Amino acid sequence: MSIIKSTSYNIHIGNGCFDALNAFLKKSKCSGYFIICDENSFSHCLPTLLFHVPLLNDAEIIELESGEDKKTLETCLQVWGALTDTGADKKSLIINLGGGVISDLGGFVASTFKRGIDFINIPTTLLSMVDASVGGKTGVDFEGIKNHIGTTYEPKGIFVNPGFLETLSERQIRNGYAEIIKIALIADFMFWKKLTKLKSAAEFSSELVIKRAIELKNDIVKKDLRERNIRKSLNFGHSIGHALESALLEQKKDILHGEAIAAGMLMEGAIGLSLQTISSKEFKMLSNYINSIYTKIKISKDTEKLLMNYIIHDKKNEGSELCFALPKGIGTFELVCGIEPLLVKKTLENYQQL
Ligand SMILES: NC(=O)c1ccc[n+]([C@@H]2O[C@H](COP(=O)([O-])OP(=O)(O)OC[C@H]3O[C@@H](n4cnc5c(N)ncnc54)[C@H](O)[C@@H]3O)[C@@H](O)[C@H]2O)c1
Repeated sequence: MSIIKSTSYNIHIGNGCFDALNAFLKKSKCSGYFIICDENSFSHCLPTLLFHVPLLNDAEIIELESGEDKKTLETCLQVWGALTDTGADKKSLIINLGGGVISDLGGFVASTFKRGIDFINIPTTLLSMVDASVGGKTGVDFEGIKNHIGTTYEPKGIFVNPGFLETLSERQIRNGYAEIIKIALIADFMFWKKLTKLKSAAEFSSELVIKRAIELKNDIVKKDLRERNIRKSLNFGHSIGHALESALLEQKKDILHGEAIAAGMLMEGAIGLSLQTISSKEFKMLSNYINSIYTKIKISKDTEKLLMNYIIHDKKNEGSELCFALPKGIGTFELVCGIEPLLVKKTLENYQQL
């Protein structure tokens, strides 16, 4: 097992993470355990968890319906209600067992219930292992805007069992892999070089890849929990990607977070090329690899309009200026403000050719 030290807690990865969880629970002296999961983590992951961590056999199980469209305040009401009805108190521990929707929502619920109770994350998707469960950003979508309501509230521990990925579809593995590509592009050139040799879902989700991606994200979070400077680098691909995801979800189209981020990285990479933060050789490397894994998303004229609106209202902007985190070469980043909306619009129009 590997242990990565975060700000005030540890991230346990691999064989032995359940032993670490047993030890953690014995030490933590909680008054009760509340496992939040969805129907998929309930059927695929909960039995394994209960088998390896017998203390949790007494836990209350709060099972939610899966899906990004359930990452809402309405679902929080349901969870706050269930916690109240089953007698959760200030010393209860929330255990988020699931993908990024569960850890974002469960973390938010924990941060607000009785002004904040402890929680831990047991991520069960690749995306939540390498990204969503790490770093203390919690929240829900509101009026169609992603993560519009939320808090920064850190877990007391993260327990990563890559074995949970066996039941995850290839599409969901590619979904999570987009965030691995992102962190390599903005933080570690050597890791990026290694990734470009990987082709299969099994390679994308190996324990070594997961561990390196977590290390990189954790290093950034430790330096800048509140996203005042370096943590902004994690937004590469997300200014356009989040807007695309929101626009497509608004139109009830089928889109996963990582798929939108892959498209966002292509377009923001092209903007970096226009603004000369990366060379044409670097952009070619980036686009060749992303295009070898992700098929292009169809963006209609209607989606494009919605999308521009979301980009302009992105919370990462400063005043009326568009601000994007762009790769500076490969392996570092630069925050560029004052990006012309026209450049973004032209890049969108040119997306299918990138
Ligand atoms: N807080 C952060 O820093 C951060 C970072 C990145 C993404 N996110 C958020 O994470 C969310 C996306 O996370 P996600 O991709 O994990 O989505 P998700 O939670 O919706 O999980 C994807 C699907 O996989 C299913 N599933 C979960 N574990 C499974 C397993 N082991 N086997 C089979 N199926 C399983 C889920 O039920 C769901 O249907 C988005 O809401 C995004 O905004 C948050």
